[in-house]
Amino acid sequence: MEEILRLERVSKVYEPNITALDEITFAVEKGEFLFITGPSGAGKSTLLNLIFRAEKPSSGEIYFENRPLSSYPRKEIPLLRRKIGVVFQDFKLLENRTVFENVAISLEIQGVSEGEIRRRVLRILERLGLSGRETQPVRQLSGGEKQRVALARAVINRPRLLLADEPTGNLDSRRTEEVMEIFEDLNAEGTTIILATHDEALYVERHRRVLVLDQGRLLNP
Ligand SMILES: Nc1ncnc2c1ncn2[C@@H]1O[C@H](COP(=O)(O)OP(=O)(O)OP(=O)(O)O)[C@@H](O)[C@H]1O
Ligand SMILES: [Mg+2]
Repeated sequence: MEEILRLERVSKVYEPNITALDEITFAVEKGEFLFITGPSGAGKSTLLNLIFRAEKPSSGEIYFENRPLSSYPRKEIPLLRRKIGVVFQDFKLLENRTVFENVAISLEIQGVSEGEIRRRVLRILERLGLSGRETQPVRQLSGGEKQRVALARAVINRPRLLLADEPTGNLDSRRTEEVMEIFEDLNAEGTTIILATHDEALYVERHRRVLVLDQGRLLNP
């Protein structure tokens, strides 16, 4: 099996003295669907933020496709992020832009043709039950709708690694099931997924590896 991600003794300390992550070591195989769980404040979001290079570790190293993240100069970070999709816990959508614009933005930056952008965006919106919402500003959407827009934006690039932080936190049980099915489909298509959640209903009976974080420590490496 081929490794896509590896963390070696990764710690994150927030000043003055909050140890959000404490010497985390684990590896993820290409094609895995990995869950990270643990109580509020355990460090789940911090861990995903470090993998996406939104923040840097205080110590330790993270390897994506065998390359240390610390070796990426600033100007190469966008290239890295093209390979890693992320659904943030707080979405980080452009509230005053439309659904279409939010999902299309990374393709536009890459210079993908207008027709191709339209085709891909409409297809992913349909898959996520957002057809007809294209021209609506994101600020008018419900929490669950925003969550699905964030997921559409994360996967539009067909990332190799998808990071999802509580991606069903605002969804009712029917939408949760639908979104989890989309994750399963993406995984079956070859996308490696790391999903952080405190909701054990998401991973029981799914027979996937589950890492448990507690107060910044991994309980089951
Ligand atoms: N930017 C920051 N500055 C200071 N402390 C932070 C920062 N971000 C996170 N922390 C702290 O780090 C710890 C881990 O937070 P994190 O958000 O990673 O937890 P979490 O497991 O995602 O929790 P939740 O389930 O509530 O989303 C917490 O004690 C939090 O207060
Ligand atoms: Mg969190």
